[in-house]
Amino acid sequence: MSKTRTIIPNGFSIRRIELSDFEDVKIVLAGLTTVGPITLFTYETILNYWNSVKLMNKPTEYAYNTSVIIDDHTHTVAAIGTIFIEQKIIHDGGLVGHIEDIAVNSDYRGQKLGKLIIDYLSEQGEKLGCYKVILDCDVKNVGFYEKCNYNQAGIEMQTRF
Ligand code: ACO
Repeated sequence: MSKTRTIIPNGFSIRRIELSDFEDVKIVLAGLTTVGPITLFTYETILNYWNSVKLMNKPTEYAYNTSVIIDDHTHTVAAIGTIFIEQKIIHDGGLVGHIEDIAVNSDYRGQKLGKLIIDYLSEQGEKLGCYKVILDCDVKNVGFYEKCNYNQAGIEMQTRF
């Protein structure tokens, strides 16, 4: 059953990340974590890599889907988020969507753009055939993801290097 949720408000648009977003993307992601001194060359190499990895059974569709919400008046990136589509063996060779690196520019928070990017990425996962979409988050953001129709399931474990 398809659940179309994404309604883009006037003055904003959503599209796949582009080379020209480099400076804005660094600023928005700095609101999430340390970005580091990444060069334009490295950024371009990553985008080229993301654009080269396609789904096994849908060769026109990307495995790495990073989208940006653009403020159409200022032409700047207001929010960013990624869904990575994982090809599994289990569930009859099923697909799982992993939502990663969600951030809304601090000037744009509280305007439902965070929910918009999650709705958009979730819908992409559903359309691409994922049987589920999952993500990890801080406890402080649980309420936000519940507003985006996500439920707590399991516990995140990690080992850091
Ligand atoms: N806790 C509880 N509720 C929240 C929170 C929160 N931390 N943040 C927003 N909400 C609520 C809002 O009040 C709103 O509720 P309403 O519909 O009843 O009015 C609803 O969630 C939607 O809020 P948005 O306006 O869409 O949220 P916003 O655009 O401000 O984005 C976000 C939220 C993404 C968490 C933003 O604050 C941000 O970028 N934070 C810094 C980076 C970050 O923590 N990103 C998430 C990392 S987890 C990951 O990447 C998988």
